[in-house]
Amino acid sequence: LPIRSTHTHSQHTDERRVPNHVAIIMDGNGRWAQSRGLPRSAGHKQGTENLRRILREAVRQGIKVMTIYAFSTENWNRPPAEVMTLMRLLEYFVDRELDELDKEGVCIRHVGKKDGVAPALLKKIEYACERTQDNDTLLLNVAFNYGGRDEIVNAVRLIIESGIPADEVTEEVITDHLYTHGVPDPDLIVRTSGELRISNFLIWQAAYAEYYITDVFWPDFDEKELHKAIDAYSQRKRRFGKTDAQISSDDT
Ligand code: FPP
Repeated sequence: LPIRSTHTHSQHTDERRVPNHVAIIMDGNGRWAQSRGLPRSAGHKQGTENLRRILREAVRQGIKVMTIYAFSTENWNRPPAEVMTLMRLLEYFVDRELDELDKEGVCIRHVGKKDGVAPALLKKIEYACERTQDNDTLLLNVAFNYGGRDEIVNAVRLIIESGIPADEVTEEVITDHLYTHGVPDPDLIVRTSGELRISNFLIWQAAYAEYYITDVFWPDFDEKELHKAIDAYSQRKRRFGKTDAQISSDDT
């Protein structure tokens, strides 16, 4: 994979550090719509428009990896019409945006299960991934039909199938068998619309991530809100289990 972390974990407070990998739980589409007396589908549509706007800004800001939670394994439990809306939106998104995303250097990757996804949609997703696989401006991981626990179960199965002996199973081996293999862990996880939970998103990869939660609904999370999230991240001291003193000496 061409995309690697390029920044160091510098703690100088006067410089703005842009996170290498931002993961987003795009929550609040339904509430955005309801607050305007619109159907939930209108919220998802506006959420898709917003995704486009945020991706452009992410490229401008020099973010190298974005992982977006588009559809979870639990989202199948929503009313069938809403599930259909979300599937259609993803399909339209690929149809309408692929050329431009490709031109911008976005590499699209699917993270999640293929099982259960309609074959026509799956084909479209696979085509988008194939066509953009050599792009290296921004890696866009689309977490679709994704669940963190499912991902770990799948990794364990792959490890057993490949005959790796128990005493050779390390954290690195597990990491290498996740859907996100080859991608550095998220530095910043953003959740819109105020809920204080991880909802089965990147549960293994999030071990040392910083969290940013805002009450703003996803369709209203614009460039300015992204800047606020990056600024908040910039102020955080990431110690990765070490002491402050150790971190300062790492810097020099
Ligand atoms: C949460 O809002 C959002 C989702 C379940 C899906 C996110 C999907 C999109 C932004 C559009 C489709 C994706 C792509 C990649 C084109 P919610 O419905 O849970 O809102 P609520 O909590 O207010 O009800």
